Amino acid sequence: MLRPRGLLTPPAMAMAPLLVAAALVASFSGAGAAPRPPPAGPKPQQGRVIEYGGNYLGGYIPQQDAPKDLLQSGVWGVAAGHYHSMAIYGKSRKVVEWPPANASFGYYNPDPSTQRLQPENLVNVVAVSAGQHHSLALTKTGKVVFWTRQLLGNASDDLPPLLGPKAKAKVKAIAAGRGGYSMALLNNGSIIEWGPARNYSDNATWYRPPPPGLVISFPEGDVNGAINGNVSVPAPRLRAQAIAAGWDHSLALLENGTVVAWGGRRGQYQAFLSWRAMNVSADAKQDVVAIAAGNQHSLALLANGTVVAWGTVLANAAGATCAAEGCVTYPPPAGPNNVPAEALKDVTAISAGSLFGMALLKGGRVVVWGKSTGYLYINFVPDDAQSGVFAIAGGSAHYLAVKATG
Ligand SMILES: *[C@@H]1O[C@H](CO)[C@@H](O)[C@H](O)[C@H]1NC(C)=O
Ligand SMILES: *[C@@H]1O[C@H](CO)[C@@H](O)[C@H](O)[C@H]1NC(C)=O
Ligand SMILES: *[C@@H]1O[C@H](CO)[C@@H](O)[C@H](O)[C@H]1NC(C)=O
Ligand SMILES: *[C@@H]1O[C@H](CO)[C@@H](O)[C@H](O)[C@H]1NC(C)=O
Ligand SMILES: *[C@@H]1O[C@H](CO)[C@@H](O)[C@H](O)[C@H]1NC(C)=O
Ligand SMILES: *[C@@H]1O[C@H](CO)[C@@H](O)[C@H](O)[C@H]1NC(C)=O
Ligand SMILES: *[C@@H]1O[C@H](CO)[C@@H](O)[C@H](O)[C@H]1NC(C)=O
Ligand SMILES: *[C@@H]1O[C@H](CO)[C@@H](O)[C@H](O)[C@H]1NC(C)=O
Ligand SMILES: *[C@@H]1O[C@H](CO)[C@@H](O)[C@H](O)[C@H]1NC(C)=O
Repeated sequence: MLRPRGLLTPPAMAMAPLLVAAALVASFSGAGAAPRPPPAGPKPQQGRVIEYGGNYLGGYIPQQDAPKDLLQSGVWGVAAGHYHSMAIYGKSRKVVEWPPANASFGYYNPDPSTQRLQPENLVNVVAVSAGQHHSLALTKTGKVVFWTRQLLGNASDDLPPLLGPKAKAKVKAIAAGRGGYSMALLNNGSIIEWGPARNYSDNATWYRPPPPGLVISFPEGDVNGAINGNVSVPAPRLRAQAIAAGWDHSLALLENGTVVAWGGRRGQYQAFLSWRAMNVSADAKQDVVAIAAGNQHSLALLANGTVVAWGTVLANAAGATCAAEGCVTYPPPAGPNNVPAEALKDVTAISAGSLFGMALLKGGRVVVWGKSTGYLYINFVPDDAQSGVFAIAGGSAHYLAVKATG
């Protein structure tokens, strides 16, 4: 697994690859002829960013490095990655990324004085997603832009041919996971998933050609069950309305409100060119309006405002493992599926951090549950995030919320 260079990682942490939320600004994602009405999620608006938590190694607090001048108002949406954060801001919907990328955190920074990354030519961004060490942005015209923290460079030339700068396909949603693993949802409901084109820890492989990318279609009949083995592609085509990338598993929300999952432990730096279906909670087979993927867990938001969670981490999150990793213990969530009672109704949006879940309630209150890590104490939500929030994003050991500024 990737580890930040030059830092000692406690053994228990090393076993828990930390993930990365695929924070999509879903409400900006544009078209898509879904037969279901769209989720009654928060309306796009502008606000200021609230940050909570820190690097999972306990090494720094991202707030200290945030570009405060840009985050006080005018922010449309956010994404939280393994270490980094992204925001869409301003009238022309540009992107800013922080904290500074530097060698101590496992990526190369040609200019240690760089306090932020603001891709200058990138405007009209409708969604952002932050992976382990890479970033994706989606523009109003349906183009994906891809860059990396390690190289602070524009890596868009590494996109699969169907998505590259010259490609015609229009994308309506993006999701970034571990080590360059990424997903894009096309306007026609097909998903392209691709692995890292290179070993981003090793600049020597910079010129390795990218994998071709894969259009996935969902084989009828396989989506409800456990399948141990590869699934042939193509097969009768299903269309997806939303996607989510976990650490190394993928979720898709089909147009009929059913969730399918695939992937799992695929190994670092592999191209993700085959898919293996994974189990999905029985409660996420219908009426799902939004999805989120964490390190080893998944969340679904049902049309009636209930959150469903499944996977391993949240289920184990209540005590011993947490103590072993030196983090703060917390009471197990009271509700079914390891979801706290507060997140069983009136939820309008969800996000999954590495080892935690987030729900946004009507009225803009943030609820967070799961495992405390580093500076992130799960049983605490800042006062500021108790109302008026309209967007949330969970990272590895930090989360972001955007609060309306009126
Ligand atoms: C990298 O960032 C950390 C945290 O902000 C800081 O302590 C360290 O000095 C930085 N290293 C370099 C080489 O800039
Ligand atoms: C990267 O290149 C693409 C296409 O050449 C361009 O559209 C985009 O704005 C660039 N992005 C960054 C982050 O500079
Ligand atoms: C969607 O478009 C892509 C790119 O043109 C194509 O490869 C794929 O087969 C299309 N999917 C469907 C369901 O038509
Ligand atoms: C990637 O690069 C790192 C740093 O050079 C190296 O330790 C690792 O083995 C490389 N991984 C692969 C799959 O090439
Ligand atoms: C890594 O490769 C890129 C692209 O060739 C180059 O711009 C950069 O200077 C290289 N970095 C190092 C540390 O060699
Ligand atoms: C998936 O679900 C089936 C049926 O409920 C169960 O038998 C199987 O053990 C599950 N597989 C995994 C990997 O959880
Ligand atoms: C699944 O695909 C992988 C990669 O193509 C291959 O190595 C493996 O043998 C396949 N497994 C089955 C059960 O077909
Ligand atoms: C949605 O479509 C899939 C694939 O056809 C099917 O397996 C599933 O039962 C459908 N779900 C609903 C709620 O209709
Ligand atoms: C929402 O629907 C689920 C699944 O049918 C059910 O378990 C849950 O109790 C419902 N919640 C509310 C608030 O109606």
